[in-house]
Amino acid sequence: MEQEKQIAVEQARNEEIRRQQHILEEQAAKIQLANTELQERNIQLDNANYQLSEQAAKIQLTNTELQERNIQLDNANYQLSEQAAKIQLTNTELQERNIELDNAYLQLSEQAAKIQLKNTELHETNIELNDANLKLEEAGKFKMKILGIASHDLKNPIAGINLSAEVLMRYEKLSPQSTKMMKNIMNSSKRMLDIVVNLMDVSARELGEIKLTHSSFDIVSLVEDISKEYLMRATEKKQMLEFESDGACTVLADEQCMRQIFDNLISNAIKYSPQEKRINISVMPSAKKVKVAIADQGLGLSTEDKALMFRDFQKLSSKPTGGESSTGLGLSVVKHLVELHGGKVWAESEGKGMGSTFFVELPL
Ligand SMILES: Nc1ncnc2c1ncn2[C@@H]1O[C@H](COP(=O)(O)OP(=O)(O)OP(=O)(O)O)[C@@H](O)[C@H]1O
Ligand SMILES: [Mg+2]
Repeated sequence: MEQEKQIAVEQARNEEIRRQQHILEEQAAKIQLANTELQERNIQLDNANYQLSEQAAKIQLTNTELQERNIQLDNANYQLSEQAAKIQLTNTELQERNIELDNAYLQLSEQAAKIQLKNTELHETNIELNDANLKLEEAGKFKMKILGIASHDLKNPIAGINLSAEVLMRYEKLSPQSTKMMKNIMNSSKRMLDIVVNLMDVSARELGEIKLTHSSFDIVSLVEDISKEYLMRATEKKQMLEFESDGACTVLADEQCMRQIFDNLISNAIKYSPQEKRINISVMPSAKKVKVAIADQGLGLSTEDKALMFRDFQKLSSKPTGGESSTGLGLSVVKHLVELHGGKVWAESEGKGMGSTFFVELPL
C-alpha cells in the first residue's frame, strides 16, 4: 500500500514535472519567439540607428556648412555695412558738393549777367569806336590826299628850279660866287625833289593808289646812270664812288620806282659816310634774279638799327655827315617798292663804324 501510495505520489510528481516542463517548454518557445522578434526589432533598431546617425552626420555637415555660410554672410553683411557707410559719406560729400556747385552756378550766372551787361556796353563802345575810327580813317585819307596833291604839285616847280640851275651852270659864264650858289640851288632842289617823290609814294601807298607801269629796260644802265648822277655829290665829300657790273640785264619793272629805290640807297651811302670813304655799287645778274649791292665804309648799323630799319620815319643811330637833311622815310619807301616788284631788300653791317651794305634782289 505504502508503495502504491508512493508510486502514486511519484506519478503525480512526474505528472507535475511534465506539466511544469510543458509550461517551461511553452515559455521557452515564447521566449524564443520573443527573442527572434527582439532580434529583428534589434536589427530594425540598428538600421534605424544607422539611418539616424547618417542623418545626424548629414545634419552635422549641413550645420557646419550653415555655420560657414553664416560666417560668410556675416562678413558680407559687415562689408555691406562698411560700403553703406562709405556710400552714406559719399552721399554727404556729394550733397555738399552739390550745394557748392549750386553756389558756384549762382555766382557764375551773376557774373554772366554782368559780363552780358559789360558786353552790351562794349558793343556800344565798339560801335562808337568804329565810327570814330571811320572818321579818323577818312581824316587820315584826307591828309594823305592833301600830302599827295601838295607833293605832286611841288614836284614840277622844284624840278624846274633844278633844271634851270643846271642850265645856268652849264651854259652861262658865272662868277665863282654865283657858281657856288648855283651848286647850292641844284643840290637843295634835288634834295627837295627826292623828299617830294618819297612823300608822294607814302601818300599813294597809304591810299592804296600805287600803280606800277612796267616796261623792259636794262637795270645795269639805270643803276650806272644814277651812280653817275651822284658822282658830283660824292666828290664834294671827297668820297670815291665806283660802279661795276658784268654786262646788261633786262628787267620788267616800273623804271620810275627803280630809280627811286637806288636814288634812296645811293644817297644814303653818301649821306652816312664820312669824307674820303669808298662807295661800291655793283649789279650782279644771275639766271633767275638780279642782285644790286651798295656797299659803303660809313657809320654802319647797330643791332637795334637793323631791327628798326625800313619802317616809316625811322631815323637811326647814324646821322648825316655833311649837313644833309634826314626825314627817315627813304628806306620804308624802298622796302615797299621792292616788295611791290616781288623782290627783297636787306642790310648787312659788321657794326657801328664798320660800314654797311644794302642789297636789293629782284626776280627776272
Ligand atoms: N648807309 C647807311 N649807313 C648807316 N646808316 C644808314 C644808312 N642808310 C640809312 N641809315 C640809317 O637809317 C635811317 C633811315 O634811313 P632813311 O633813308 O629811311 O631815312 P633818312 O635818310 O634819314 O631820310 P630820307 O627820308 O631823306 O631818306 C637813317 O636815319 C640812318 O640813321
Ligand atoms: Mg635816306
